[in-house]
Amino acid sequence: MTILVTGATGHFGGRAVHHLLDRVPASELVVSVRDAGKATGLATRGVTVRQGDFDRPETLDFHGVDTLLLVSANGPDAERTAGQRAAVDAAVEAGVGRILYTSVTDATTSPLGLAKVHADTEERIRASGVPFTFLRNGMYHENYTAGLAQSVEHGALVTSTGTGQVASASRDDLALAAAIVATTDGHDGAVYELTGPRAWSFDELAGIAGQVSGKPLPLAAVTDDEFKAGLLGFGLPGFLAELLTDINANIRVGTLREVRPDLAKLIGREPTPIETAVRAAL
Ligand SMILES: NC(=O)c1ccc[n+]([C@@H]2O[C@H](COP(=O)([O-])OP(=O)(O)OC[C@H]3O[C@@H](n4cnc5c(N)ncnc54)[C@H](OP(=O)(O)O)[C@@H]3O)[C@@H](O)[C@H]2O)c1
Repeated sequence: MTILVTGATGHFGGRAVHHLLDRVPASELVVSVRDAGKATGLATRGVTVRQGDFDRPETLDFHGVDTLLLVSANGPDAERTAGQRAAVDAAVEAGVGRILYTSVTDATTSPLGLAKVHADTEERIRASGVPFTFLRNGMYHENYTAGLAQSVEHGALVTSTGTGQVASASRDDLALAAAIVATTDGHDGAVYELTGPRAWSFDELAGIAGQVSGKPLPLAAVTDDEFKAGLLGFGLPGFLAELLTDINANIRVGTLREVRPDLAKLIGREPTPIETAVRAAL
């Protein structure tokens, strides 16, 4: 059995490969990465490294692959859509046995702007006739804990989410679920909606961060426009500032608050709560 993981030099793909190496010999693993120089550690462990960039379809080589874990790319929507279509087409051309794709919760019905790219890729995969599993990942805890230490230092948690809640999950739990699906049968045609164990609000997040750090962390509520302007001020590219502002607006109206049972079922335990991620970050 050969399992190929794309995006293996990224955060999610790296953890997926880590969990795969717990389950299968390195000789059964292949990674497709843009920069092979970032995957020398994996090569040393016996993982086959292929260079491949979704934006240059001629570089994609998925031959000899039974299970393809296609990790969604990042970048502006038009580029991601074209690149991910090219990756699906390369998988079909290579005759891969099945495709596991990291999508987003409720991809085909979600009002989230970023869902359009995922819905497009899901449709491409469905239309290909290749057996598939959609791993519809909810928001990562780490999206919200990565900047917490800085917020604590500055004495305010800036947010445009209002009282909205998000049922985020630990990125490592989601990567573990992907590795389990990649190494077990019975997932063809499955669409897994993967969230954390409970929905939390930013008020709660600030409270947890305050308890963990020992410094009260008040919320600083801002509008969507103010939030986006702040991100642009930090030097984020326009598409990313828009994407993050749209996610926050969707959290505010409840798009991402539903808790789903699939992640717990796949990993065989309660998913990691936000408190654990906050403690790890601070
Ligand atoms: N659920 C969430 O909260 C959430 C949050 C952020 C992102 N995401 C999505 O989930 C994916 C994985 O998350 P992550 O945290 O691992 O993100 P990440 O650390 O930014 O990793 C993204 C990976 O995709 C690779 N990649 C990007 N464009 C590519 C292209 N054109 N061709 C081939 N590979 C490409 C990157 O390659 P390099 O290593 O060469 O850069 C990297 O390995 C992201 O790409 C994004 O689609 C989800």
